[in-house]
Amino acid sequence: MKWIFYVIVFIYMCYRAVYGLKSIQNETRGLSIEPIDYGPDKHYYNAGIRKSIICKGANKNPKVEWVNPAGDVVQRVATNRVFVQEHFVPAFRTRIPAMVLIFSHAKVEDTGVWQCRSGDIKNNISLCIIDPSEFVDTPTEVTVDRGRSITLSCQARGEPEPRLLWHRNGEIITEDLNPSKYQVMTKYNSQGFEGLLTITSLEPEDGGVYNCEAIQESPRVDDCTASVSVNISLQVNYAPMFADGNDTTLVPAKENERYLYFISKTLVISYYTIVGTLTDSSPPPI
Ligand SMILES: *[C@@H]1O[C@H](CO)[C@@H](O)[C@H](O)[C@H]1NC(C)=O
Ligand SMILES: *[C@@H]1O[C@H](CO)[C@@H](O)[C@H](O)[C@H]1NC(C)=O
Ligand SMILES: *[C@@H]1O[C@H](CO)[C@@H](O)[C@H](O)[C@H]1NC(C)=O
Ligand SMILES: *[C@@H]1O[C@H](CO)[C@@H](O)[C@H](O)[C@H]1NC(C)=O
Repeated sequence: MKWIFYVIVFIYMCYRAVYGLKSIQNETRGLSIEPIDYGPDKHYYNAGIRKSIICKGANKNPKVEWVNPAGDVVQRVATNRVFVQEHFVPAFRTRIPAMVLIFSHAKVEDTGVWQCRSGDIKNNISLCIIDPSEFVDTPTEVTVDRGRSITLSCQARGEPEPRLLWHRNGEIITEDLNPSKYQVMTKYNSQGFEGLLTITSLEPEDGGVYNCEAIQESPRVDDCTASVSVNISLQVNYAPMFADGNDTTLVPAKENERYLYFISKTLVISYYTIVGTLTDSSPPPI
């Protein structure tokens, strides 16, 4: 029965010899760049990180080079911010030359198509580096009286420069949405970009959560984007309605044996006492 074992070993060795070699040949035909993994739901690396990308070369031509997006060959100078280092990767009965591209401190300007080449063989990889937006001086709670106007402001700083979008209930707010209600503006200042949303003639139904989204898009490579957002909660103060439909009513009251009238308005917050002329006129007896 021992021969069965030898036959199996023999078949396995043949399989290894044929398919093992084939995959090596395949590898030696081209250059393979280690794929970039930005992490779940992320399309970029944060600026400032250290990152290395390995490119495995072809057997025939041991010279492997990295070329930056501007077309210059990256030098093996370890004191440069971006440099290359040669490595040999163990492979089937040999060692494959590999060139490691190292960013000691990635910058947004490193975004672009990097090329690994060995002789005539070339392979590209897109790199996306973003300094994600941060919101500065952005109040997240705003309270305004009914009937007035308010300008919500949201300020973001990042690189590439963020574009600001306002949303409410999942809908993008533009001036076209309701020109008599909303005015949208962006201005640039020392803190970065400031998005301004003016809401006029506030009504109770204007209260709620407004979302400001800062979107960054690199023009250098596709899908190099980042987005962060902040919620701003707007509260509209309004006077309670009286049963007769008026929001102003005269309420007779007694104080220090004198009759006073109060006009109650915006009940909780303020009410105005009218003492002078009203008290001089004859008040109705209580
Ligand atoms: C060989 O390389 C090509 C691309 O260069 C790839 O599509 C293919 O899957 C590879 N085959 C094997 C067996 O690795
Ligand atoms: C690689 O990038 C270079 C420069 O950006 C471009 O000219 C070339 O067509 C690209 N090659 C491939 C295979 O994408
Ligand atoms: C904003 O509020 C909505 C619900 O109103 C919530 O789903 C979302 O996660 C909030 N976003 C932030 C950035 O807090
Ligand atoms: C508002 O109040 C005044 C005086 O109290 C009254 O004459 C008028 O009818 C009220 N208006 C409505 C709409 O109820």
